[in-house]
Amino acid sequence: MNQLYIVTGASRGIGAHLVSEILREPDAVVLGISRKASGEARVQSVLADLATPEGRRVAMQAVEAKLLERPWAKAVLLNNAGMVEPVASVERLDPEELERNIGLNVTAVLALMHAFLVGSKAIPVRRVINISSGAAKRAYYGWAAYCGAKSAVDAASAIAALEAEQDGSGVVVTSLAPGMVDTDMQALLRGVDEALFPHSTQFRKVKADGGLKRPEDVAEKILRLERAGRMPAGVAALGEL
Ligand SMILES: NC(=O)c1ccc[n+]([C@@H]2O[C@H](COP(=O)([O-])OP(=O)(O)OC[C@H]3O[C@@H](n4cnc5c(N)ncnc54)[C@H](OP(=O)(O)O)[C@@H]3O)[C@@H](O)[C@H]2O)c1
Repeated sequence: MNQLYIVTGASRGIGAHLVSEILREPDAVVLGISRKASGEARVQSVLADLATPEGRRVAMQAVEAKLLERPWAKAVLLNNAGMVEPVASVERLDPEELERNIGLNVTAVLALMHAFLVGSKAIPVRRVINISSGAAKRAYYGWAAYCGAKSAVDAASAIAALEAEQDGSGVVVTSLAPGMVDTDMQALLRGVDEALFPHSTQFRKVKADGGLKRPEDVAEKILRLERAGRMPAGVAALGEL
């Protein structure tokens, strides 16, 4: 009996470190979903652009097939893939980038939760961890798309957690803000023109002051809590757990 982990954004950043941490368990199997393959040989990589309807279809089919592959003892969905762009005031938002942002950060999260909940009913232990952000709860100039998307992830996760409780399905759904982590996403934010995103100065300062968390430490803590069954249902901040 194996444990199945489905990780989106498995190729880089927090997701790549989640995969390495998961694979410390010899009986863990990983389905990784991103546009580029995971560097880990033991990962079954599904190449899909989750910002598009076609990519989400491919990913949902892969999730459904993997869940049915064998009698898993546990299945965990880690909706981790995300993007910050477009970073600009609402007045300057590019509509196509906006659509990709919501497609990846919101629609893909809900679509994969749906596929997971439907396909995993026979699995004894089921968990969903949606990687959100503290940005869901704060207004940053230039960040309407990202903050709006992460607020939607928090709300949808809280509702899925409530439904799981009322339906007695046993699934634990968590929307988790990881804190500020040293990845490509942070590098991108440090480089944004201050006219579009005045907070880029603050992001540069946090990096210079050594204030970013290491992605391997974040991944280790997430998996430690998950394995111990200590991931709370609803909206949570990793720093407070
Ligand atoms: N870093 C932080 O400080 C921070 C803070 C709060 C929340 N978060 C959240 O943590 C999660 C991971 O962020 P990160 O910092 O690790 O970001 P990252 O380094 O930019 O990595 C993003 C991951 O998402 C995948 N991805 C991006 N666009 C995709 C698409 N269209 N289709 C499929 N996969 C896509 C990327 O893979 P490919 O390029 O191969 O597709 C990559 O594996 C995100 O949800 C982010 O919002 C991060």
